[in-house]
Amino acid sequence: MSVTENSAATVALPVVRPGGVPGGLEAREVSAWFGEHKVLEQVSLDMPAGQVTSLIGPSGCGKSTFLRILNRMHELIPGAALAGEVLLDGADVYAPDRRLTDARRRIGMVFQKPNPFPAMSVYDNVTAGLKLTGVRVSRSERDRLVEECLTKAGLWNEVRDRLRQPGGALSGGQQQRLCIARSLAVRPQVLLMDEPCSALDPTSTRRIEETIRELVSEVTIVIVTHNMQQAARVSDRCAFFLASPGVPGGIVEYGPTPAMFGSPQDPRTADYVHGRFG
Ligand SMILES: Nc1ncnc2c1ncn2[C@@H]1O[C@H](COP(=O)(O)OP(=O)(O)O)[C@@H](O)[C@H]1O
Ligand SMILES: [Mg+2]
Repeated sequence: MSVTENSAATVALPVVRPGGVPGGLEAREVSAWFGEHKVLEQVSLDMPAGQVTSLIGPSGCGKSTFLRILNRMHELIPGAALAGEVLLDGADVYAPDRRLTDARRRIGMVFQKPNPFPAMSVYDNVTAGLKLTGVRVSRSERDRLVEECLTKAGLWNEVRDRLRQPGGALSGGQQQRLCIARSLAVRPQVLLMDEPCSALDPTSTRRIEETIRELVSEVTIVIVTHNMQQAARVSDRCAFFLASPGVPGGIVEYGPTPAMFGSPQDPRTADYVHGRFG
């Protein structure tokens, strides 16, 4: 554990802490490679605690790679390399004395395609992450945690009578909210979401967007989205990524979301947010 770390964030879990403590995330000059192919060039970005930061930009500009670097999933890919720093509340996520599982617990992730364990019950899906992070919880605490996380994910009222049914029996939108509940159960400080609504219908999408706004007071959110209206609706800050042939991805412009959409400074941002390319 690094000495500069915020002590409020290092309280060991036995669950159930009353609420999450959102963490501030900062990327400093992050570069990334797949083999010889450099896909990100010196990306620096501040993702303030308790806010939603959206990452926008055309396909292939490195948004997912950037997200995977933030919670140390990039290093699992054979041939993948990176440079730069990622700080959570000022402490290096990649510090040699920091356990990988600790970084992953503090920085959770929700993917494009909902990925609950389909044969596992709704209840067990929510608690699935606890074992992996070595948290032991009593039965009554577990019941409370399941209800709390499903409530926060905006799913409790729909599944309270079907907690023993398989997760795979839920609709796509419900499965995605189940995945959010599963992420929340380990009390992350940051939640990364990679196009979490792109496989969902408009009603489910709105439901997830509401959930995002409700969650942000206790977990910092970084969301990749191709939907400009969504970025405008849910995010406080927005970063526009771009790559071009032979040039690795980088951030063209970032700032408060209303400014990014209302008065973009770079003509490429203006073209992108107005739907003229990408
Ligand atoms: N596992 C991988 N192996 C090799 N190249 C990859 C891999 N994943 C992504 N890339 C390449 O990295 C670049 C950025 O991809 P990605 O981060 O997925 O972009 P985005 O999420 O913005 O669409 C692309 O050129 C893509 O082809
Ligand atoms: Mg992607």
